[in-house]
Amino acid sequence: MLDVTMPIAVFDSGVGGISTLQTLVKMLPQENFIFFGDSANAPYGEKSRDTVFKLVDQVVQQLLTKNVKSIVIACNTATSAAKPVLMEKYPELPILGIEPALKEAVDAGKHNILVMGTPLTIKSPKYQAQRARFTDQATIHSLPCPGLAELIEGGHQSLPKIQTYLAQLLNIPERDQIDAAVLGCTHYPFVTELIRQQFTQPLAVYTGYTGLGNNLRRQLAQRDLLRTTNPKRTIEFMSSKNEAAELALYHQLFEQGIGIRQLQ
Ligand code: DGL
Repeated sequence: MLDVTMPIAVFDSGVGGISTLQTLVKMLPQENFIFFGDSANAPYGEKSRDTVFKLVDQVVQQLLTKNVKSIVIACNTATSAAKPVLMEKYPELPILGIEPALKEAVDAGKHNILVMGTPLTIKSPKYQAQRARFTDQATIHSLPCPGLAELIEGGHQSLPKIQTYLAQLLNIPERDQIDAAVLGCTHYPFVTELIRQQFTQPLAVYTGYTGLGNNLRRQLAQRDLLRTTNPKRTIEFMSSKNEAAELALYHQLFEQGIGIRQLQ
C-alpha cells in the first residue's frame, strides 16, 4: 500500500541521475528522495537491451524493499529498454522515465537539433520513432556518444579527457548550423558548458527535467501521494558500488555538479 510519506526513488546507471535529482528536489521540496546509482554496472549505454533490462529489474526490486511510492528512471537508456515492461509488472506504482526532450526543442522553434545520447538510446526503436515524428519540422542530427557517460562517471578528474573527447566528437560538418542540443543522457548535463564551448554560436540546451518534474507532480497528485508538508526532508544516496568514495562523489556532484569552472 502506497503512502504519502514514503520516499521517491530516483535511479540511474550511475552519477547521471544526480543531475535529474537536482531538478526534482527543487520542484518537489516537501518530498523525501532515495537516489540509487548502479555504478558497479555502469555504463548501460553500450550493453545489450536485454542486459540493461535485467539490471534495471534488479535495481527496481531492491528499491521496492525501501518502500518507495514512486520510481523515476533518471536514465534515458534504461527508460527505452525497460519502462513499458516495468509499468506492466507494477501497475500500482507510478513509474516515470526520462526521454530525449526532442519535442521541447521542436516546440521552441529550433530548426537544427543535435540529439546526443548513448549508442543504445540512439538506436532504440522508441527514439527512432520519436525522431521520425519530427523530421518534417526540423533537421535532426542524432549523435551516439560512446564512452562519454563512462568518462563523466570519473568525476572532476576526467574533465581534461572529456574536453578532448568532445572536441573530436562534435567536430561534425553541420556544427555551425546547430541551434539546439538535446542531452539524451542524464550524464551529459554535467558537462553542458564544455559542450557549449565547442560551438561558436549560442546553443539552446534541453534536458527534459522540468517536464519530468511536472509529470511526477501530476501523477502523485492524481493518486493523493503528493506531500505538502515535511519539516525534515531527507535525501539518501545509495550505490551498487557501495564504497565510501562513490557515495562521496554522489554528494559532491549533487552539491556542485561538474563543469568548466573546475578546470580554470
Ligand atoms: N545516464 C544514462 C542515460 O541517461 C546512461 C549512461 C550509461 O550508463 O551509459 O542514458
